[in-house]
Amino acid sequence: MRNTFILIVLLSMFYVSCKSPGSTSGDANIDRRVDSVMALMSLDDKIGQLNLLTSDWDVTGPTFRKDYEDLIRQGKIGAIFNAHTAAYTRKLQKMAMEESKLKIPLLFGYDVIHGYKTIFPGIAAIEAAASGLHWTFAPMVDIARDPRWGRVMEGSGEDAYLGSLIGAARVRGFQGKDLTDPLTILACAKHYAAYGAAQAGRDYHTVDMSELVLREVYLPPFKAALDAGVATYMTSFNELFGIPASASQFLLRDVLKKEWNFSGFVVTDYTSINEMVEHGYAVDHKHGAELALNAGVDMDMQGTAYLRFLKELVDEKKVTVAQIDDAVRRILKLKFQLGLFDDPYRYSDEEREKQLIYAPEHLDAARDIARKSFVLLKNNNQTLPFGANVKNVALIGPLGDTQHHILGTWRAAGDNAKAVSLLMALQQEPGFKVVFEKGCDIEGTDKSGFAKAIAAARAADIIVLAIGETAEMSGEAACRTNISIPGVQSELLAELKKLGKPIVLVLMNGRPITIEKEVDMADAVLETWFAGTQAGYAIADVLTGRYNPSGKLPITFPRNVGQIPIFYNMKNTGRPISESKYTSKYLDVSNTPLFPFGFGLSYTTFAYSNLALSDSLLHSNDSIVVSVKLANTGNFDGEEVVQLYVRDLVGNVTRPVKELKGYKKVFLKKGEEQTISFTIKASDLAFYHSDLTFKPENGDFMVFVGGNSVDVINASFKLQ
Ligand code: BGC
Repeated sequence: MRNTFILIVLLSMFYVSCKSPGSTSGDANIDRRVDSVMALMSLDDKIGQLNLLTSDWDVTGPTFRKDYEDLIRQGKIGAIFNAHTAAYTRKLQKMAMEESKLKIPLLFGYDVIHGYKTIFPGIAAIEAAASGLHWTFAPMVDIARDPRWGRVMEGSGEDAYLGSLIGAARVRGFQGKDLTDPLTILACAKHYAAYGAAQAGRDYHTVDMSELVLREVYLPPFKAALDAGVATYMTSFNELFGIPASASQFLLRDVLKKEWNFSGFVVTDYTSINEMVEHGYAVDHKHGAELALNAGVDMDMQGTAYLRFLKELVDEKKVTVAQIDDAVRRILKLKFQLGLFDDPYRYSDEEREKQLIYAPEHLDAARDIARKSFVLLKNNNQTLPFGANVKNVALIGPLGDTQHHILGTWRAAGDNAKAVSLLMALQQEPGFKVVFEKGCDIEGTDKSGFAKAIAAARAADIIVLAIGETAEMSGEAACRTNISIPGVQSELLAELKKLGKPIVLVLMNGRPITIEKEVDMADAVLETWFAGTQAGYAIADVLTGRYNPSGKLPITFPRNVGQIPIFYNMKNTGRPISESKYTSKYLDVSNTPLFPFGFGLSYTTFAYSNLALSDSLLHSNDSIVVSVKLANTGNFDGEEVVQLYVRDLVGNVTRPVKELKGYKKVFLKKGEEQTISFTIKASDLAFYHSDLTFKPENGDFMVFVGGNSVDVINASFKLQ
């Protein structure tokens, strides 16, 4: 009782305006306040803060404890996930604030990955924060080079440079400039590390690679998230170097906490500590808890191994109180930074929730960002955008009128009922009439709908065929060995093709898919992924030409599964592909990807010329300027993503055939031209040498500029 009184007095003095976790302003104050709270905590209270449990509101994995409300009252949980809405988070927070001994506010986490209610790529933090959430399990910054893996759709593709920029931007988007701002939430860089390199693209599978590849390809986005001030990290499910990530002293203590000096906290992925038993690394959960705490895991997600065993492990001297204190300090610090000790209910505001969820400006942003994410893969004879001659459109296909699949997976609290299907959007277009026939399901062999679909198409000027994957075919635990378009959808396309009408393929899928024959049959192909709440409007904007597509692929599309892994920044090998027999190639398939990294068309065309370097010699500590003339040579105003790649011709370790080093999105009116320039510094050319030092190496380089990773013009320079 006395302790409680002291705590309340202390808490009331604790208010501090603090900046993002990366900043030191306010840190000293917060440290003092954290110490004062910790002085009141028993070992049990401290261990309590290290547990994160799911509520039964929503579930994202196996649950075996239903007693989370009792545990909140007992001060045995520090954070809850899968609980949301202002009202429900307020209810649980009240339990902690009014019924637990120390009244330490709970932290509410959730997988706000593609948005909270308004589902699209952005605005997520504002809506999540308005619904009582403090913490998102995003960004997922796993580099993914295997499209069989269902989780490629959560990240930003195959390239470490692009993945680093996107990861950092997402951290800034979630956390804003100031965590005390109630419209920001904590971000979580996941899954640390190398989860995307699961063998054979099978989720949770073993990862094995050299430290060189780990540092060059898989760690940079995690480091970029750190540099952007990310508050938390989540460990991955996989093992690396034979050790499950949640037990990896190398990853957590050596790299993250020592080398990178990370000051936030590390949470495990869902029951990862317990799973060390199945991995064959821990004898039981207790052993797992020991390994995890010693490795540097601060918070146990859903496994309750810390809750059940840390005290015993302290008594047995297998772990130390100092380690527990360090973990508690990291967690409390962020609770302070969020302002929760000042007002534990500041995020659980029903009025704000009503105002902000599905706010019109969020829907506008969703529509705009969705259409910017589309990639035009083919457009023969300017099939798109629809011309004035298009008066009757036949929309065919199982994804033509879906409000479910277009939200994709990791849709948080998104409502299907609020989503706009392509049919709903096209019906609102004034210039033409639209008829819809589903034709078939996404999966299965039933062709009984073909006849009606063909009849509808026969009467139309143009056929829009919306086909692809179900939402559930990608995401967690959703890997495929056959990544072609499922069911009889391609057969439907083949039947429609016989009508001799222009066919626009609108693809919806969560990964690169093998679509060589479908692309051949179609006149135009628009990749729309799973574009979210405003998907229908966004697709209609592109089909009608209100928006000229400019998206580029962040990941290579293979021709078939046998080519996997195939990615743009491969090594050359000692026998690069050529006509001669003994070179590195397949006999039974073209040796190029179907669509390379960086590829994407526009309704207009762009020409690149006059590639010039300010100097052919680059001195260390200096830079050179690469310039290129870009001309809009087509009939539409449009945007182009100008891409800059380099190749280091000879290295201390061999270098990839191309590496993305920069890009610029440029808008040009038709007929306009502009000189675009990039600066290359010697430090941009640094790479990991065989002794793991990171530095540039003198020698010859090629520089490439173009609208994708293959169609480029080039020049050379020397670093000396
Ligand atoms: C996933 C994580 C997710 C967590 C909580 C796990 O199964 O791998 O990405 O954040 O569940 O839902």
